[in-house]
Amino acid sequence: MSDLYCVFGNPIAHSKSPAIHAAFAAATGQDMHYEARLAAVDGFKPAISEFVAMGGKGANVTVPFKEEAFRLATRLSERASRAGAVNTLAFNGTEIFGDNTDGAGLVRDIVHNLGVSLAGKRILLLGAGGASRGVIAPLLAERPASLFIANRSAGKAEALAASFADMATVNAGNFAKTDDMTFDLVVNATSASLSGDALPLPNGIFAEGCVAYDMMYGQSETPFLAQAREQGVVQRADGLGMLVEQAAEAFFVWRGVRPATRQVLADLRSKLGQ
Ligand code: ATR
Repeated sequence: MSDLYCVFGNPIAHSKSPAIHAAFAAATGQDMHYEARLAAVDGFKPAISEFVAMGGKGANVTVPFKEEAFRLATRLSERASRAGAVNTLAFNGTEIFGDNTDGAGLVRDIVHNLGVSLAGKRILLLGAGGASRGVIAPLLAERPASLFIANRSAGKAEALAASFADMATVNAGNFAKTDDMTFDLVVNATSASLSGDALPLPNGIFAEGCVAYDMMYGQSETPFLAQAREQGVVQRADGLGMLVEQAAEAFFVWRGVRPATRQVLADLRSKLGQ
């Protein structure tokens, strides 16, 4: 029987993870089955127990369960501890190992797929929620010149920056505070795109040759990427590459094999009509 994996979320019906992992498994010859599983909002723990009892070997975790998965894990990777959230679980006997591959996925998409080195760069991270927290340590590990976290509520950004003070100096404030600054990479980790809202970004934050990256993706251009385009940013990317790369990293955690991602990403893009 094939080894069993799944993604837990609520909602989960439109998840692209089963198709991505099926493509990885086929390409690498791994004998595994990966499915989407809906868990009740207050039923994550029993859903995990049931899946483990069925012989489940590992699971991805998405909205709204990443923090609960973090609490449920009996052992955590360093990057999951830093993120305060888990998107990848591996089950081994009574152990529940929790990892977080989101930040690695973002960095790999930028460095490997877009071909942009982050060393020595000035990075602006927009948002101070869970999505933002998850990518800070992997971004800092690339040794940027600076990292600034901007958020609607400045206090939340400042608290988040302070929690990474042992790794690097991270500055923070509201959007207006970036008024006289310029950046080489601007990453949108807010959920503003979901509601179609534009962000109150000052003019002039995008340096010459800047990359604008939205962790969200969709059929049409996100409001943040439209803003970046209007301000003359040429290199713009949505979060589809990050989605595929975080999956590849999870696949590696489970199977010890790193799948190629280029074709899988291209197929997803053509399905999205991009
Ligand atoms: P996630 O897990 O996706 O990060 P979250 O923890 O709810 O979700 O955080 C959402 C982030 O998007 C926050 O930084 C939030 O800003 P506040 O902390 O000020 O609430 C940000 N956000 C959501 N909608 C926004 C909007 N319309 N404009 C600006 N920021 C927004």
